Amino acid sequence: MAADRENLTVYFNGEFVPWADAKVHVFTPAVKYGAGVFEGICAYPTENGMSIFRLQEHLARLEYSQRVMRFERIYTADELTGPVIEVVKRNGFQETVHVRPTVYVDGDGEAGALGPIGVCVTAVQKKRPEFTAKGCRVQVSSWQRISDLAMPTRVKAHANYNNSRFAVTQARTDGYDTALLLNAKGHVAEGPAMCFFMVRDGKVVTPSITSSILESITRDTILQLCRDELGMEPVERDIDRSELYAADEAFFCGTAWEVTPITHIDGHALGSGAPGQVSRDLQTAYFDLVEGRVADTRGWHTPV
Ligand SMILES: Cc1ncc(COP(=O)(O)O)c(C=O)c1O
Repeated sequence: MAADRENLTVYFNGEFVPWADAKVHVFTPAVKYGAGVFEGICAYPTENGMSIFRLQEHLARLEYSQRVMRFERIYTADELTGPVIEVVKRNGFQETVHVRPTVYVDGDGEAGALGPIGVCVTAVQKKRPEFTAKGCRVQVSSWQRISDLAMPTRVKAHANYNNSRFAVTQARTDGYDTALLLNAKGHVAEGPAMCFFMVRDGKVVTPSITSSILESITRDTILQLCRDELGMEPVERDIDRSELYAADEAFFCGTAWEVTPITHIDGHALGSGAPGQVSRDLQTAYFDLVEGRVADTRGWHTPV
C-alpha cells in the first residue's frame, strides 16, 4: 500500500472507513470474475474550492452500467452523490483527485454472479503525466477492441479492462507510450481508457459512439468545446487505419487522460511531430473549464 494512502478515508458499504479496512474476500465474484463496474471522476481545485467535474453524468453512467450487468441492487446517482462529495471533503484534498465509485458483486457466488452487491468510493491524488504537455507516441495495437457482441463496450465493467491492459502492455514492451485499438470492422475505436480525435484537412474527426467505444463524458465535453470555443463543427464517423498516417494532428481525451496530444502513430510523425495547434487550443479550453477559470454555463461543476 502506498504510504500516502494509509491516511485516506474510503466510503465502504454505508460507512466511512480507513483505507486499510476497505476489503473484500478473495472468493467474491468481483475478484474471481471481475464482476464489478466503476466510474473515474476528477475533482479539481478551483478559486471557489474543490469542484467535481460532470459528477451527475458519471453517476448516471454508473447506474446504466449496473442495469446492463443486471445487478440485484442498483446504486442510484442520488444515493452516491453524497458519498462522493463526502469522500473528497473528508480527505481534505486541495489538489486534483481521481474519484472512483465502484459497485461490485460480493458474497461467494459463481460465474452467474447474482448476489449481494457492495459499493465503495475511493479518492486518490492525481498527478498530470508528462505526456499531457509533450504528447505521446502511439502504437496501433494488434489486439482488437472488444466487440459489443462479446462484452458491453459502453459499460465501465472491470473485466473489459483486460482488453486495455493487453494493448498497453504490448505497446510499452514495444517501446511506445500507449496504444490505439481498432474495432472488429477494422476502424479506429479508442485508446486504453481514452477516446480518439484526429484533425485532418481542417476538420476535427472522431469515431462515432457505435464504434465499440465507451460513451466518454470527456469526448462529449470536447465535442461541445470544439463547437463553442473553436467554432469548428466536429465530424463523428468511421476512421480507417491508413487515415491515421494522413492526420495533421491527433489527441486522446478522457477523465484521467484529460486532453493528451498524440505526436506519432506507429512511428509516423503527425504534422511536425509536436502537439498540434487544435489539440493545444482544446487542451487549454478543457483546463480552463475543469479548473473553473471560465463560467460554468452548462452546470457541470459540483462544489465540494
Ligand atoms: C475504455 C474507456 N474509454 C474511454 C474513456 C474515457 O471516458 P470518460 O471521458 O468518460 O472518462 C475511459 C475512461 O473512463 C475508458 O475507460
